[in-house]
Amino acid sequence: MDKFDGRLTKDGIRIHSDGDFAGMHKAGALAARILDDIIPMIEPGTTTEAIDAEIERRVTEAGATSATIGYKGYQHASCISVNHVVCHGIPGPKTLKDGDILNIDVTVIVDGWFGDTSRMYVAGKLGRKSERLIEITHDALFKGIEAVKPGNTFGDIGFAIQSFVEGHRMSVVRDFCGHGLGQVFHAPPNVLHYGRAGTGPVLEEGMFFTIEPMVNLGRPETKVLADDWTAVTRDKSLSAQFEHSIGVTADGCEIFTLSPAGKFHPTYG
Ligand code: MF3
Ligand code: CO
Ligand code: CO
Repeated sequence: MDKFDGRLTKDGIRIHSDGDFAGMHKAGALAARILDDIIPMIEPGTTTEAIDAEIERRVTEAGATSATIGYKGYQHASCISVNHVVCHGIPGPKTLKDGDILNIDVTVIVDGWFGDTSRMYVAGKLGRKSERLIEITHDALFKGIEAVKPGNTFGDIGFAIQSFVEGHRMSVVRDFCGHGLGQVFHAPPNVLHYGRAGTGPVLEEGMFFTIEPMVNLGRPETKVLADDWTAVTRDKSLSAQFEHSIGVTADGCEIFTLSPAGKFHPTYG
C-alpha cells in the first residue's frame, strides 16, 4: 500500500497525498492574504461588522467560499473576538476603541480545500499587558508547530504549548481545541493545546490539522453567552489566539497559512 493513499489511521486521521499539499497551500494562502489585507481597517471607530463585510467581499472577489457562513447556523465570514472574548465572537455594530485587542478568524474553501487561520490585531495603541499576552500566545503557537514532525505525538504539541504558556504565568484554554481539516472543516483529531509529552496519536506525514491556542491572562475557564456562540473568559481577563493550518512533511511541517506580507504578528507590521 502506498504511504500516500488517502487512508485513515486507527484514530480516524486522514493521511493526504503529496498533491493534496498544493490544494491546502492555495486555500491557506488566500485566508492569510485576506487577514493581511484588512490590517488598515483595524482602528478605533471601526465596527466589527464592517470588517466582516470586507472579509466576505474579498472571499467572493477571489472566487472562493466562506466556510463559516451557514456552518451550524453561523451567518458571518469571520469570527471577531475582542478583549475578553476567547473565540467565536460574532461581528456586530459595536465600534472598536483605542487599545482593544481582537482575534479575527477566517476559513475559506478553495477548490474544495479548507484554509483556516486567525491572528491578533490591535485598534490604536497596544497596552503593555496586551502586548505580552499577544507575544506569548504567538510564540506558544510556534512552540507547538516546532513539535510537529513524524514520530512525535499530538501530546508533544499540547505539552510544548502548555509548558511554555504556564511558564509565563498565563493559562491555556481547555474548552476549545484545534482540529484536523482538509476537504472538510473539522475532522479528527482534536488538537489539544495542553497535555503530556509522548501521549496521543503519533504524527505521520500527510496529516493536515490546525493548531490554534487560546491563552488567558487570568484563569482558563470560559463560558458561552446566550447567543450560543460567543465564548468569554469567566473571570473577564484578556484572551488571545493565533491559528495556522499545517501539513506534516517528512521532516517537519508546511504552514499553509503563512502571511504573504509577513504580518502575522501585529507588532511586526
Ligand atoms: N474558524 C474556527 C476554527 O478555528 C471555527 C469557526 S466556526 C464558526 O475552527 F461557525 F464560528 F464560524
Ligand atoms: Co480552526
Ligand atoms: Co479558525
